[in-house]
Amino acid sequence: MEFKEIVRKDKLYVAQTYSRQPLAIVEGNGAIVKDLEGNEYIDCFSGLAVLNIGHSHPKIIETIKKQVEKIIHTTNIYYIPPQVELAELLYKVSGGYKSFFCNSGTEANEATIKLVRKYTGKKVIIAAENSFHGRTFGSLSATGQERYKKPFAPLLPGFKHVKFGDIEDFKRAISPKTAAVLLEPIQGEGGVIVPPENYLKEVSEICTDHSILFVLDEVQTGFGRTGEMFAFQHFKVEPDLFTIAKALGAGFPIGAMLAKPEIIKAFRIGDHASTFGGNHLACTVAKANIEIILDENLLEKAKQSGIYLLRRLKELKNKHKCIKEVRGVGLMIGVELDRPCNVIVDKAREKGVLINCTHDNVLRFLPPLNIEKEQIDKAVDVLDTILCD
Ligand SMILES: Cc1ncc(COP(=O)(O)O)c(C=O)c1O
Repeated sequence: MEFKEIVRKDKLYVAQTYSRQPLAIVEGNGAIVKDLEGNEYIDCFSGLAVLNIGHSHPKIIETIKKQVEKIIHTTNIYYIPPQVELAELLYKVSGGYKSFFCNSGTEANEATIKLVRKYTGKKVIIAAENSFHGRTFGSLSATGQERYKKPFAPLLPGFKHVKFGDIEDFKRAISPKTAAVLLEPIQGEGGVIVPPENYLKEVSEICTDHSILFVLDEVQTGFGRTGEMFAFQHFKVEPDLFTIAKALGAGFPIGAMLAKPEIIKAFRIGDHASTFGGNHLACTVAKANIEIILDENLLEKAKQSGIYLLRRLKELKNKHKCIKEVRGVGLMIGVELDRPCNVIVDKAREKGVLINCTHDNVLRFLPPLNIEKEQIDKAVDVLDTILCD
């Protein structure tokens, strides 16, 4: 099908909920993707923090082929060997959390809201202004951005929003009804907002003092994005529960809620379920994906490449007045402009670089963790030629 025809049929047959860029990607390899006409792009976006190991990793292709030949799906009513293996690996890399499997980030947060209520018997969850936790009702209620919520009111009651990074505001919000606090370790969709050093540590200590559950949404920060397997390891905190999705499956849809064993025990048979959650294929792929991250030393690579990309982008800041701030951890980096960034995204794409614009004026870099130095250089050089025109 030609590009024009794809656009025409998309309008005709697909719900128009996405503001699409004029691009149809059909192939990928590492940090490079190709469009219908065979044009190549450096993917600094990784399918929105999903392809942390890059596109079409040979081990993932091999794993999928092998598993598909055996079995794709049964049901959680039977034991699922790859699910047990994945949960064991997650237990090891997280430092002792048990898993509930689902299919996306928003579902992982839904599971969390239910578990938090059941475990604590309380109804109020403190979340952050400017946060993003998903689009289903519970996660949307937790989300701290009115623009996503307004058309769908009334939402789930019981959420209180506080200023992200402001420890005093958090303290003021606590009441005897508080069950938990739910935070992104770094706000992603909200513009790559890194909290002040010690903020998460202080929040976690206050939670312990007040018997409040400390919950992190690692949907975007998980699986090496910050240079550690999970961002909580970077910030040296230990959540009671956390959620993952995106880069867990290297492009295959899978999500999970992970919780300390004594907490997840509150979920009894029948309390929560998912038809597809944790099926043979999804879990086999996710396990292979984590093994790749470990075997190929991608956490260290993300750290090193992150330092390099941050430095190169900060050099641009000295040159281009339209850059207000460059910030980030590992390979999760935001470049805040003094103007909307959609035009920059369009120009970069025309020059073969895919980046994302979030929160209207923040260029978000989320490249594969194994992006090469030359690819980083090329992307930054392209940005250098198009900024502030
Ligand atoms: C921090 C965070 N939580 C939750 C979600 C929702 O994940 P999903 O789109 O897989 O439902 C996202 C998606 O961008 C996210 O960034």
